[in-house]
Amino acid sequence: MTENIYPIYDRMMTRQDKETLLGQHGVMVWFTGLSGSGKSSIALGVERELHQRGILCRILDGDNIRAGINSNLGFTAEDRRENIRRIAEVGKLFVQTGIVTLACFVSPTIEIRQMAQDIIGPDDFLEVYVSTPIEECERRDVKGLYARARRGEVKNFTGISAPFEPPLHPALDIDTSVLTLEESIRPVVQLIIQHNSNERI
Ligand code: ADX
Repeated sequence: MTENIYPIYDRMMTRQDKETLLGQHGVMVWFTGLSGSGKSSIALGVERELHQRGILCRILDGDNIRAGINSNLGFTAEDRRENIRRIAEVGKLFVQTGIVTLACFVSPTIEIRQMAQDIIGPDDFLEVYVSTPIEECERRDVKGLYARARRGEVKNFTGISAPFEPPLHPALDIDTSVLTLEESIRPVVQLIIQHNSNERI
């Protein structure tokens, strides 16, 4: 499918040019965890905090991506894989523009997250596991989906009728059933600042 495609990358301004312009380093922070675990709530807090510190961020999450670019995808293993592949490719564009990108997706398997990391590149990929137990996610049931999944009305529901494989070596593990939102946001902000200061801009 790449036949007759002629990239212009060698003539475009570089990532380094963008990062110098912004005075920051692009990175992908990949939040994985069950539905209702708190991924998006943490990302929203991190975005606000980084914005105040003058760092440009972009959140990508299931609700905005699945309503738009991925509106033709469902929740079979194959569709989830395509969902994550597209998100990783789009996320890579943000990262290479020097933007701190916060991706909040269930991304339920090790294989699917490895694919995302391979697309984005290991040096630009920080995995954050939001490890809130299913009992707590189900108790919250913000969208009412757990109740519907228990009744068999939602098929392939992660944690109930579809698998979730925890990451083996996440950069951070955050359980929002024992931490406050503030306590959950802080280590992620620190991780990003640390990553930025390790990279030469
Ligand atoms: S992923 O598995 O492909 O990464 P994604 O993060 O985009 O999933 O979407 C998950 C969100 O879609 C959940 O937070 C939930 O609101 C909703 N959803 C609807 N059906 C399902 C399902 N079968 N399994 C998981 N989440 C679902």
